[in-house]
Amino acid sequence: MEKYFIYTYGCQMNVHESEKLAGMLETKGLKKAEKVDEADVIVFNTCCIRESAEQKIMGNIGAIKPLKKKNKDIIVAVCGCMSQQKDKPMLLRKKFPFINIIFGANNIEFFSDYLDEYNKEKKYLNKVIEGNYQEKEDGISFVRDNKLYAYVNIMYGCNNFCTYCIVPFVRGREVSRHPDTIYREVKDLISRGYKVITLLGQNVNSYGLDNNTGGVLFPKLLETIANFEGDFEVRFMTSHPKDISDDLIEVMARNDKISKTLHLPAQSGSNTILKSMNRNYTVESYLEKIEKIKAKMPNITLSTDIIVGFPGEGEEEYQLTKKLLSTVRYHNAFIFMYSPRRGTVAEKMENQVSIEEKHRRVNDLLKLEHEISDELFHNMVGSNQRVLVEGEVNEFLIAKAQCGKVVKIEKNESIHIGEFVYVKIVDYKSGDLIGKI
Ligand code: 5AD
Ligand code: SF4
Repeated sequence: MEKYFIYTYGCQMNVHESEKLAGMLETKGLKKAEKVDEADVIVFNTCCIRESAEQKIMGNIGAIKPLKKKNKDIIVAVCGCMSQQKDKPMLLRKKFPFINIIFGANNIEFFSDYLDEYNKEKKYLNKVIEGNYQEKEDGISFVRDNKLYAYVNIMYGCNNFCTYCIVPFVRGREVSRHPDTIYREVKDLISRGYKVITLLGQNVNSYGLDNNTGGVLFPKLLETIANFEGDFEVRFMTSHPKDISDDLIEVMARNDKISKTLHLPAQSGSNTILKSMNRNYTVESYLEKIEKIKAKMPNITLSTDIIVGFPGEGEEEYQLTKKLLSTVRYHNAFIFMYSPRRGTVAEKMENQVSIEEKHRRVNDLLKLEHEISDELFHNMVGSNQRVLVEGEVNEFLIAKAQCGKVVKIEKNESIHIGEFVYVKIVDYKSGDLIGKI
């Protein structure tokens, strides 16, 4: 075993977990392969949030077959949310008999042991286990590709059971990591020059509610980190609107090191649909929170997730979602077509929406969202922004604003990659902001 290649699908959580997989492989002495056909170990870190993700992954696993035919010694491992679904390991193995190891989303940290076991026996291993996330006691190392941005898990799993969502079935219940472990990890990242730390969890606002943290809840965790020495920013995702507290809004507003950007998935603008989704908030209470956030942080950039075509969403409900987008005015909205997931409540609901209608709504909503975000970025012209310089292209330095938007700055000898700088936004052209020091 000399080289490895990891395919990563899905959310930031998976991206970060692939950094753990890479860490374990490099600890074993393997190096990252530039191309999959140079690899001795191929890992698929999978996602099953929507049918489209699963189809893509199936296609990509199938494409490995010729490589395996040429070289039987290649080890193919499949892990993550897709393998964690009931009966999935069996189905995967039937379709792709060349898979050597299957493990789940909750025992990623034990991959190194599974590889050792496979190398001894050379027999197919199914290591998927039910339950919650398990951390390896002695910890593991990470291989982070990016030198400026780093993810840190603060909790695993989800207790919410939104009726469309498969996450609670595959990722188990909420487990918070101990604050001291998180503080240690974050301090280490800051000392190694990381500039933006993103705290990760399916629902970060319920951090500590499982009594694993000695009473530390999310606002306290966030503020403690924001008070660390160093030149950095801290962000977090994802927040459930029902759990955003006044306390959290205050903490965000009074700490400069907390990025003024918030991802707050609304999912729908119709109370009927929100109820049927089991979201536990109303459009009114959502908007109330948005008002508070905007009042305390006038420069905040907001983003959201929206699902169109949830069962029972008629034209009237859909129009309410459009209204919500026009009211809140997000800098970015991720818009998804509802995809029925096996075992969830919504899968069995009546009044499923046709695929044609879902397509129509997604395109219509994307058009609206582009108009809104375009306007918001135009409105940024004239404002001052704190941006992180990431690289350079031709005569420009490429930086990013807190919301993730690219800001081009004219090259300047005194500015270096990895620095935060203050710029005045002077233009918005071809989708990029132009900044001047
Ligand atoms: N179909 C479509 N979108 C979904 N999401 C979660 N489950 C589904 C599903 N079954 C979306 C939600 C969530 C985001 C991560 O993915 O909007 O916030
Ligand atoms: Fe899924 Fe809802 Fe949990 Fe988010 S909060 S992971 S949408 S169940």
